[in-house]
Amino acid sequence: MNTAVAKKNNITWFNGHVSRLDREKLNGHKGAVIWFTGLSASGKSTIAHLVEKELHCRGHLTYVLDGDNIRHGLGSDLTFSSRDRKENIRRIGELVKLFVDAGIIVLTAFISPYRRDRQKVRSLLEKGQFIEIYVECPGVVCAMRDQKGIYEKAKAGIIKNFTGISAPYEPPTRPDLKIQSHREKPSAAAKRVIALIQEEGIV
Ligand code: ADX
Repeated sequence: MNTAVAKKNNITWFNGHVSRLDREKLNGHKGAVIWFTGLSASGKSTIAHLVEKELHCRGHLTYVLDGDNIRHGLGSDLTFSSRDRKENIRRIGELVKLFVDAGIIVLTAFISPYRRDRQKVRSLLEKGQFIEIYVECPGVVCAMRDQKGIYEKAKAGIIKNFTGISAPYEPPTRPDLKIQSHREKPSAAAKRVIALIQEEGIV
C-alpha cells in the first residue's frame, strides 16, 4: 500500500471477507503473472494465447493482457515516449496485482522495454507470483514477420521512438525463461512455459 498517497487523499484500505488464499482454494490453483517481454512481432502474444488455451482447457482461470489491446482503452492517452511507456507498465502492474489477488493466472504481452519498469511490477507482487519470460528474436526477423508494416514505417522515420530501431530495448538479465522465437516453434515454447508454471507450483 502507498501510505503517502493514502495520507494525502484521506483514504484507507478496506479488507474484504474473502482473501486471495480463499479464492485460490476455490479456483484450485494460485494467482500469478506470466510476463512476456520482447520486441514487437517477437511472438509474445502468440505464445501467451497458446499457453492460455492450454491452461483454460485444463480448467484454470486465465486472462491475456495484450499491448495493442490495452492501448485501445486503459492506455489510450499514452504515447511511446519513455515516460509514457513507464506509465503504461505502471498501470498494468497495478492491474495485474488485482488479477493475482483475484486468484487468476494473467499472461501479459507488452514490449515493456525497460528493466526498471519490469522490476517495479515484480516488486508489487510476492515471490513466485511474477514469472518473467524473455521472447528473444532478432530485429530483422521481427521486421520480416511484421504484418502491420510498422517496422517499415519506423525505418522510414514515419513512426518515431520505435523499439529496436529508434528506441532502446533492455533484455532481462536473468529471466525465468528465455525463448528464442526464431529457433523454436510457438507450440514448443508454450509447452516449456506450461512446464515452468507447473514447476513453480502455480498449477
Ligand atoms: S510498451 O513499450 O509500452 O510496453 P506496448 O506493448 O504497450 O509497448 O505496445 C506495443 C505495440 O504498439 C507494438 O506491438 C506495435 O504494434 C505498436 N507500436 C506503435 N508505435 C510503437 C513504437 N514507437 N514502438 C513500439 N511499438 C509501437
